[in-house]
Amino acid sequence: MDVYEAVTSRRAVRGFTDRQVPREVLERVLATAAWAPSASNLQPWHAYVLTGGPLAELKKRAGERLAAGDPWDEPEYEQYPPALKSPYRERRSAFGEQRYGALGIPREDLEARQRAASANWQCFGAPAALFCYIDRDLGRPQWSDVGMFLQTIMLLLRAEGLHSCTQMAWAKFHRTVAEIVSPPEELILFCGMSIGYEDATVSQPRTGRAPLGETVRFVDGY
Ligand SMILES: Cc1cc2nc3c(=O)[nH]c(=O)nc-3n(C[C@H](O)[C@H](O)[C@H](O)COP(=O)(O)O)c2cc1C
Repeated sequence: MDVYEAVTSRRAVRGFTDRQVPREVLERVLATAAWAPSASNLQPWHAYVLTGGPLAELKKRAGERLAAGDPWDEPEYEQYPPALKSPYRERRSAFGEQRYGALGIPREDLEARQRAASANWQCFGAPAALFCYIDRDLGRPQWSDVGMFLQTIMLLLRAEGLHSCTQMAWAKFHRTVAEIVSPPEELILFCGMSIGYEDATVSQPRTGRAPLGETVRFVDGY
């Protein structure tokens, strides 16, 4: 698989089969993703990979919290500005329309949207998950380094025939994740990532992208 194919075939997959992901595949992907760049080579990512019993326990505890109507944990960082401005607001609502529209959920049915979103905390059925932490003392450039690490993982997973879904949703359950992985106090949970083989029976529309002219300006002599 070439890089173009890895990039264009990566998408947020929200339905996985229960086929196990071999430990050596995860190790190969993570050892290779360690080559992701970071400013001054800080490598500011801290990843915990869960499979088997520990992941099952996490899903069980998250499911129990949801069933009990437990409020979410306050994420330890602001996930979006309180008032998203244009054009981000429109892109976000277009995404919501597409994601929940594909499930037949109308815009105003917040309860049904919430029910669909709760699949996040079952990792959409994935048999493996990665939880990515960053030191709370680090700043914006290091958060961007972590993003590069995560994207590198996602592309390598494609080369292994695997799919993924990055999930900030897990930051809303960071205390439950911490019960399982016991991270040091100085780390913040940025996101989870479900990893596995795609369940092709789950229909998932491809998300669109803004036209290139909206996000890129060429300043050249052509
Ligand atoms: C940092 C980050 C956090 C995300 N959090 C979630 C999430 O909590 N739940 C979810 O279903 N998708 C999540 N996504 C997936 C995005 O919704 C998805 O990447 C975006 O809509 C573009 O679609 P695509 O990845 O399929 O191309 C997240 C993606 C990123 C990069």
